[in-house]
Amino acid sequence: MRSKHKRPRSYGAGGPIAGTQEIAAIETALLSHGTARDGLLEILLDIRDRQGSVSQAGLQYIAERLRLTSAEVYEVATAFPAVNYGATVPYGNYTNNCCDLVCALLRGPADIDREMRPGVCGGRCDVPDSEPAPRSFETFRAAGGYTVVNRLQRMPTEKNQILQNIAGRNAVGRAGVGFPVHRKWQSLIATGGEPVVVVNADEGELATFKDRFILQSDPHGVLEAALVAASVTGAKQLFFYLRDDYADLHAIVRRAIDDTVAAGLTAGLDVHLRRSGGAYICGEETALIASLEGRPARPRERPPYPTERGLQGRPTLVHNVETLYRLRGAWGAVHEDAVPVSALLDPDMLLYSVSGRVRKPGPKLIRALPSLDALVRAAGGMREEEELGGVVIGGSAGTIVPASRCGVPLAELLASGLSLGTGSAVVFGKTDDIRWIAEKMAGFLARESCGQCAPCRIGTAKMARALAGGPLDRRLLDDLASVMSEASICGLGRSAGKFLARVTPILTEHER
Ligand SMILES: Cc1cc2nc3c(=O)[nH]c(=O)nc-3n(C[C@H](O)[C@H](O)[C@H](O)COP(=O)(O)O)c2cc1C
Ligand code: SF4
Repeated sequence: MRSKHKRPRSYGAGGPIAGTQEIAAIETALLSHGTARDGLLEILLDIRDRQGSVSQAGLQYIAERLRLTSAEVYEVATAFPAVNYGATVPYGNYTNNCCDLVCALLRGPADIDREMRPGVCGGRCDVPDSEPAPRSFETFRAAGGYTVVNRLQRMPTEKNQILQNIAGRNAVGRAGVGFPVHRKWQSLIATGGEPVVVVNADEGELATFKDRFILQSDPHGVLEAALVAASVTGAKQLFFYLRDDYADLHAIVRRAIDDTVAAGLTAGLDVHLRRSGGAYICGEETALIASLEGRPARPRERPPYPTERGLQGRPTLVHNVETLYRLRGAWGAVHEDAVPVSALLDPDMLLYSVSGRVRKPGPKLIRALPSLDALVRAAGGMREEEELGGVVIGGSAGTIVPASRCGVPLAELLASGLSLGTGSAVVFGKTDDIRWIAEKMAGFLARESCGQCAPCRIGTAKMARALAGGPLDRRLLDDLASVMSEASICGLGRSAGKFLARVTPILTEHER
């Protein structure tokens, strides 16, 4: 195919010239995403899908077409692993696994280090036998789905009732921090600007796959809640920010959006499906917003909070998939046995992502979990001939709980400062080395640090080195923990500090 467009006249002194095929690929991507900067990541991902990655000459061509400097485009291309810039092998391997904790635990460290590229994780820690079929638009509607959206279109006064119901349910965010939902919505509304709503489906936290499970099972449930959020807050734009590595979910979410648009449920609202760039930091809300604007995913200091000043300076409501899904109870949706995930409408029901050395890894819906031992039992118990060594709970915001503490009532562990984070639980065995597990967690954080601030960039690297071998240097670990948790710009560095502070005594005890 020949491009209708002329080659840009100047690439800078001596710059390489993009080939005809690449220009055609770029022009096709521009047709879909336009020439404004905010489409840059999508353009680069489209080109990756067509030809593996963009070339240096291609970057320059894009820069010219988007009226950016080559340095600006280069900065974005190199900030997102999923763009695959400069790589010689194709990005992603969705049938295989990644090289992080769970895959390394199950496949063996030597095997992983030899074979796999880091950072490509399809959220397959649960190794499912079969995937749930997504509830269709027709079935969802037949069960009363989207009635609330129609009602809000006809009777805008219902918005206050919904806000009150959400406040009455004490709904809190499920991304880990647990901020009250109604306060977030109200602060957004109070700005008086034109808000934007973002569904955060990046799910980059280690060993977490709950959002994938929800979207796979009931995509319209999430979309319904997002449409309600947009309607109540007066948003004119809705972004669905979906993890690029969840390739199989893209068609499901695309179809769900198309169905609602065709049914007239999105009147007055622009709905966009956008892919993230393959890094854990992409899910941090200010970094997410930067990537939607076509800039590198780097968090920024707050305030101002995104609800005050977010995407393109507009008040922006970013919510986790599970947070939105659970809100449906606030407008009368009820649990249906045929849709197991809808049990989440019960506020006491929690969703855990259980992986590791258990017989039945996977998403587990559990009301009032008594202890971590019970969680292991809910996942079928330990695999043959393996004895429980402990559980890494809550990912990087959590800690490692050794087997001796897994029988302690969960309420007691929570009261002593345990955080369930996103509800991930990696179960390991007696023969697994707890120090290696901590080192693997540190390695993940060091790799995923965006490098913008020194406490996190240097701290996570030092933490990984300090845990890698030799006697534990307790003073160094304590110093690193306090510097990272107190001086990092965003939650990644702060969580790394807290994780280190929690695991250092456990590792010290283990070494004795
Ligand atoms: C390093 C990092 C990664 C994050 N990744 C995600 C993510 O993948 N999905 C998500 O919903 N929130 C993620 N968050 C939290 C978001 O910044 C934000 O708080 C969240 O989307 C708000 O959702 P909620 O109010 O529904 O809990 C991340 C935070 C940090 C610090
Ligand atoms: S804390 Fe880490 S991830 Fe966050 S801004 Fe600093 S360097 Fe980047």
